[in-house]
Amino acid sequence: MPSSNYRVSQPTSSSDLELYYALRYEVLRKPWGQPLGSEKDKDEETSIHAFVKENERVLAVGRLQFTNENTSQVRFMAVDPGQQGKGLGKLIMEFLEERSKENGRNKVILHARENALKFYESCGYRIVEKSHLLWGQVQHWLMEKDLK
Ligand SMILES: CC(C)(COP(=O)(O)OP(=O)(O)OC[C@H]1O[C@@H](n2cnc3c(N)ncnc32)[C@H](O)[C@@H]1OP(=O)(O)O)[C@@H](O)C(=O)NCCC(=O)NCCS
Repeated sequence: MPSSNYRVSQPTSSSDLELYYALRYEVLRKPWGQPLGSEKDKDEETSIHAFVKENERVLAVGRLQFTNENTSQVRFMAVDPGQQGKGLGKLIMEFLEERSKENGRNKVILHARENALKFYESCGYRIVEKSHLLWGQVQHWLMEKDLK
């Protein structure tokens, strides 16, 4: 199905939130042997969550948090491995950028895993500097974008 046929929305019910966090865990934590629970942090309640859901399956997720009065940060971007490369990640990014603008934040930053640099570049982000090394092995790069 073309990505334009998918709809991004915000999970609100407890069952949708469960599926949302489960995909985050499967893609971003489990492959590195991290424990269940490590997929969440202290900012969940104040963040904006986005997902693509089809037939009770969550295919893609991402989160936006507000850093300060001008800036938001995208975190926890994850697409089901069987669904990557179909435009779903880009749809989530566009949705989160709209929410950032609506909330008066015209700049978005993120810490990209090295494997995702090309993805974020194609979404219009530029590299600022090398940032942290997660779990001693996953290099991250600080990126930013000014929204129009
Ligand atoms: C990174 C990720 C979120 C991207 O989502 P996706 O749905 O696979 O990406 P999309 O299909 O929306 O790709 C959008 C664009 O990025 C490009 N792109 C995506 N991944 C790419 C890659 N690895 N190398 C080169 N280009 C890539 C696509 O070609 C596409 O370009 P286009 O718009 O010019 O056609 C997803 O692949 C993923 O979950 N990866 C594993 C977890 C991860 O690393 N998350 C990011 C943590 S910072």
